[in-house]
Amino acid sequence: MHSSPPHGERISGRVAEIEPQQIRVMFDLAAEADGDLVHLEVGEPDFDTPEHVVEAAFEAARRGETRYTANAGVLELRRALAEKRSQETGSAVDPDSELIVTNGGVEALHLAIHAVADPGDEVVIPTPTWPNPISQTRLADAVPVELPMAATDGFAPDAGRVVEAIGPDTAAVVVTSPSNPTGKLMPETAIDRIATAAAEHGAYVLADEVYRELTYGETPRPAASVTDHDEWVLSIGSFSKTYAMTGWRVGWLHGPADVVDELVTIHESTTSCVNTPAQHAAIAALTGPQEPIDEMKAAFRDRRDYVVDRLESIPHVSADRPEGAFYAFVDVSALEGSSAEIARRLLSKYDVVTAPGTAFGDGGEGYLRLSFAADRERLAVGLDRIESMVETELGLE
Ligand SMILES: Cc1ncc(COP(=O)(O)O)c(C=O)c1O
Repeated sequence: MHSSPPHGERISGRVAEIEPQQIRVMFDLAAEADGDLVHLEVGEPDFDTPEHVVEAAFEAARRGETRYTANAGVLELRRALAEKRSQETGSAVDPDSELIVTNGGVEALHLAIHAVADPGDEVVIPTPTWPNPISQTRLADAVPVELPMAATDGFAPDAGRVVEAIGPDTAAVVVTSPSNPTGKLMPETAIDRIATAAAEHGAYVLADEVYRELTYGETPRPAASVTDHDEWVLSIGSFSKTYAMTGWRVGWLHGPADVVDELVTIHESTTSCVNTPAQHAAIAALTGPQEPIDEMKAAFRDRRDYVVDRLESIPHVSADRPEGAFYAFVDVSALEGSSAEIARRLLSKYDVVTAPGTAFGDGGEGYLRLSFAADRERLAVGLDRIESMVETELGLE
């Protein structure tokens, strides 16, 4: 009898090459651990979705909004998004052709990379970075070009280095501002320089702005409005972080009509559309009361200051004060071992779950990402434990 090859041999090389994310690895280790764990690895608000948003989904389902929607998304949602984007960018946005509603910002990025990168093309990605654009680029058979930013500068985005990396093979450059994991903003002049270089080479800027409205100073202007080359900017946004809606899976991309049209084609053959009641919830989030969002932001600001102040008081560790998002990127290089080893020790001996810096691409070695999407009391317990690990390991007691 003919014997079949092992199942594993039928996995495509493209997929087999993708390694599990280190954050996922920490989740799995934490799931196996018992004890009173403090979760500081979490990448989502710990707040509930505002009640009026939840209600809008129920109402939509009850009135029969339970069928497929247009591939590009419910027109009312695109109109609300277009109106907001027009105000924010200062130029008119056409809801019919320049916007697509996606399954979170993650799908918007995936579609954008697949739409613009041919096999072998390069996607320039400054690091440390949220790792998904790296694996998405590989899934498109394109080549991620990781550009580690200098730790000495607090990982401030160095536009000159990004511009130098843009060449004839570049299909896209990822600009994430504020950054996950550093919470740094990219200055407008840097975005403009990068967009100008990208435009010269016929490459797109993938402006990941999912944390743009979760900033602690003035809300930064969208990338598309700080350059004359906005026809080369694909802007990615999401309801996940701004409205505490991670599980609803609603994001969007705004860009030139011809590119958005291609995205709709891919979206049609992969997910068709976003969950219909969730799109109605998103309309309520955009057009309803914004107080719950302001309250959440104020809580994040308090926690940010608390976390950074506490970290400053622990000898031999340090973290810059993030300008946006809800992460502190902490220099723990004084401790022994790689950041993955430090994160594992912190989990196994001190019951604190964090994400190692190397989960965010080249350049994150020696760092841990702490999320402050946890309540003040748990943050205090987590920081006490981190302090005692540092004191014990460095013999400071
Ligand atoms: C920088 C960044 N971009 C995009 C996303 C995608 O989020 P979502 O797909 O929930 O919108 C995340 C999620 O953690 C993120 O950190």
